[in-house]
Amino acid sequence: MWNKEQLTQLLQDKLKDTKFIMVANRQPYKHILRDGKVTYVKPTGGVVSALDPVMRVCKGLWVAYGDGDADKKVTGEDGKIAVPPDNPSYTLKRIWLNNTEADGYYYGFANEVLWPLCHVVYQRPLFNPEDWKHYVAVNQRFADAVLEEIKDDDDAFIFVQDYHLALFPKFVKEKRPDVRIAQFWHIPWPNPEAFRICPQAKEILEGLLANDLFTLHVRQHVNHFLDTVGQLIEGRVDMERVSVVKDEHETLVRHTPISVDFDEISQLASEPEIETLMKELKEKHNVGDDQLIFGGLERMDYTKGIPERLIGYRRFLEKYPQFRGKVVYFQAGELSRTHIEKYRQLNKEIESIIDDINWKYSEGDWKPVIMCRDLLSTKQIYALFRMSHSFVVSSLHDGMNLVAKEYVASRSDEKGSLILSRFTGSARELTQSIQVNPYDQEEMAEAFKKATKMSPKEQTRRMKKLRQSVSENNIYKWIGTIISNLTNI
Ligand code: G6P
Repeated sequence: MWNKEQLTQLLQDKLKDTKFIMVANRQPYKHILRDGKVTYVKPTGGVVSALDPVMRVCKGLWVAYGDGDADKKVTGEDGKIAVPPDNPSYTLKRIWLNNTEADGYYYGFANEVLWPLCHVVYQRPLFNPEDWKHYVAVNQRFADAVLEEIKDDDDAFIFVQDYHLALFPKFVKEKRPDVRIAQFWHIPWPNPEAFRICPQAKEILEGLLANDLFTLHVRQHVNHFLDTVGQLIEGRVDMERVSVVKDEHETLVRHTPISVDFDEISQLASEPEIETLMKELKEKHNVGDDQLIFGGLERMDYTKGIPERLIGYRRFLEKYPQFRGKVVYFQAGELSRTHIEKYRQLNKEIESIIDDINWKYSEGDWKPVIMCRDLLSTKQIYALFRMSHSFVVSSLHDGMNLVAKEYVASRSDEKGSLILSRFTGSARELTQSIQVNPYDQEEMAEAFKKATKMSPKEQTRRMKKLRQSVSENNIYKWIGTIISNLTNI
């Protein structure tokens, strides 16, 4: 089974004298001012939770956008700082963007074009030529910042993350065709009919095809990508090798499902302190010990199906009144991308459904839905997982969904059940979950009932299998497979 030691060995064998550079929009640690003092937080989201453990082993350089209001106070003139701040093991290099650049590149093209375009959840992408200009310029900035780090005779492996940096590989390869570049696309890839409406579809594909390896979560997204390339640009799609050859350069296209550090989460979530935190969370939010808790945690994003989940829960309370007063739905998670109108609308919609459910069904001290607005620490998140009799992930479409895997990793007690949307990448691996179509209220209501009725024996039987799957397909296997694929080219 893959673990830290095996990854260290692989790095020794295959990338010994090679510079390891990770490039992602999101930084793993963000410095902020709180009550006039500088402190740091770990941003939520798949990229950080999966890649920070990897970097702690690989010990390279992580290049990212420094978006914390106190980042500059703690960063050297070269933009660098050692992280994790409490126990440094690798270097973070921050890139500074002004508001106009962040508006166009991050909020605009990345999150109002590529995000809705790739998720296909019926949110119309907003194409604004100015945003594209910033996207190009910021991708060039990232490329320059990385090129600065690679000396003429250096051998380097650059590992790029996600949809924010689709042009980066091309900009780097123009200057340094010798360095190896792999890119992981953390979100789904849609079918060609959906993708082709993007006015810059060709440029995006050409940027990505400068990679030596381009990898996504699941085979279906690989097929969509190859179909899109086949229909939109000149290039040879080789179905045997699963690659694309364009201008004599070959890009291998693979699927490598991302995961979490199973052992670390499992161990940290079992520490005695977690029990105390569970007690505190319940007390603070007035949850009784005899109440059965459904948990939910995510960035507040319209792809996550939060209104659909709440509507399913409301139907469950309506259809099965015997559970009123006995169950609680506990929603946590950070507001996200609120600079974008659709996200502000989503938060209003969520508030309004919660208000409706609580108004209709509350009795005495009991409130059916608790919305926790606190910024939870990693340990508090494990406490939320451990106190949730059932955890609900109802994304309308999701590349993978790592919260589902984190929940499973945290349940070393082999209890609890997972209600999981069929439209997540993780549903393919987590087959012992209760799988649902989040758009179907009746099916959602039945899933809540099934979770409530599941015997402890059945929970354990399922949880054992879920845990075995996440433990075998862990984050070290993911990065190990990517490095092996790349170094075998
Ligand atoms: C998704 C994306 C990640 C991103 C995360 C958080 O999981 O695939 O790339 O890290 O959302 O999004 P944010 O916009 O806050 O970085």
